[in-house]
Amino acid sequence: MTPKLIDPFARAITYLRVSVTDRCDFRCVYCMAENMTFLPKKELLTLEELDRMCSTFVDLGVEKLRITGGEPLVRKGIMTFFQSMTRHLDSGALKELTLTTNGSQLERFAKDLYAAGVRRVNVSLDTLDEEKFARVTRWGRLPQVMRGIDAAQAAGMRVKINVVALKGFNEEELFQLVEWCNSRDMDLTFIEVMPMGDLGNEDRVGQYWSLKDLRGQLSEQYSLIDLAERSGGPARYVQLQETGQKIGFITPLSHNFCESCNRVRMTCTGELYMCLGQEDMADLRPALRDHPDDNQPLVEAIHKAIGLKPKGHDFDYSRQRADGQVSRHMSHTGG
Ligand code: GTP
Ligand code: 5AD
Ligand code: SF4
Repeated sequence: MTPKLIDPFARAITYLRVSVTDRCDFRCVYCMAENMTFLPKKELLTLEELDRMCSTFVDLGVEKLRITGGEPLVRKGIMTFFQSMTRHLDSGALKELTLTTNGSQLERFAKDLYAAGVRRVNVSLDTLDEEKFARVTRWGRLPQVMRGIDAAQAAGMRVKINVVALKGFNEEELFQLVEWCNSRDMDLTFIEVMPMGDLGNEDRVGQYWSLKDLRGQLSEQYSLIDLAERSGGPARYVQLQETGQKIGFITPLSHNFCESCNRVRMTCTGELYMCLGQEDMADLRPALRDHPDDNQPLVEAIHKAIGLKPKGHDFDYSRQRADGQVSRHMSHTGG
């Protein structure tokens, strides 16, 4: 099928990331303030509205749907939504239905997710140390997440671990994390911490551990082979010659991958953000709510929004407290 959503820079938009809730049962220090005020429930798109939104995007050529949050699995009734998306996999219109989760609820939902057609899941996990895990998530319990990962693998899903690289926090665990993922046959991606939202006193400049340094440390123990392949996503990959493992690096601050960007993100209230690092957005909710029986206004609103997609992001730590800082939280746009 010819992609139907083409942005002003001739990029086809085939990937939609959908945040289904701004809530989370954790409060990772780089993601949320401890005392978050969450949106009133009535602000959220209902499950039926989420279905209509996503189905419209699928009709417009979106082939990959990633469900995020906050923590997507804390949204009440979310499994019904996953199950309703299965029809698009069955029809062949949707190639992949997936999610990014903190893993806390995976033990409970793994089988149902698999049954709904989910074959891969990304789990955020920054440390293998229980006490440190409780600290970075502010109160999360690591064994619960480990059980979730076990359940996901047992159900037949492929697991990718996302590690946010934090100086002075998980630096000393680098090799342990790599070995652990290898022993469990899981993919691993390191993410540079990004300057999102106002997190009060959190020192993200001090926490910034560049993946260039991380790579350097990795190469002391392994031979790294650069892989040319790109998934259309932000990660660059290396292979460890010794183990054959593939490791991803997401370096939004030091590497520009925008030229091949294929994605947009929808918040749980129906705002469409054109880029993680820019404020360009369009509120799709009026087109959805004011025209319950006519999809045309929504289709037009989506086309118009895609027309606003900027060429790229402009994260810049030197401007961390200055104007132009991206002020929303990661949990708002879904990472
Ligand atoms: P794929 O969907 O398979 O490409 O996985 P992914 O790694 O993009 O998804 P995941 O939800 O695991 O995202 C991991 C992190 O990658 C996100 O939280 C962001 O930090 C970063 N990321 C994803 N997409 C973008 C993007 O378009 N721009 C930037 N700057 N970062 C992104
Ligand atoms: N910088 C980088 N990554 C972040 N994530 C959340 N907040 C940030 C941030 N400020 C990551 C989570 C998860 C993914 C969706 O986004 O750890 O893996
Ligand atoms: Fe929750 Fe993920 Fe944000 Fe942590 S990074 S607070 S798990 S949404």
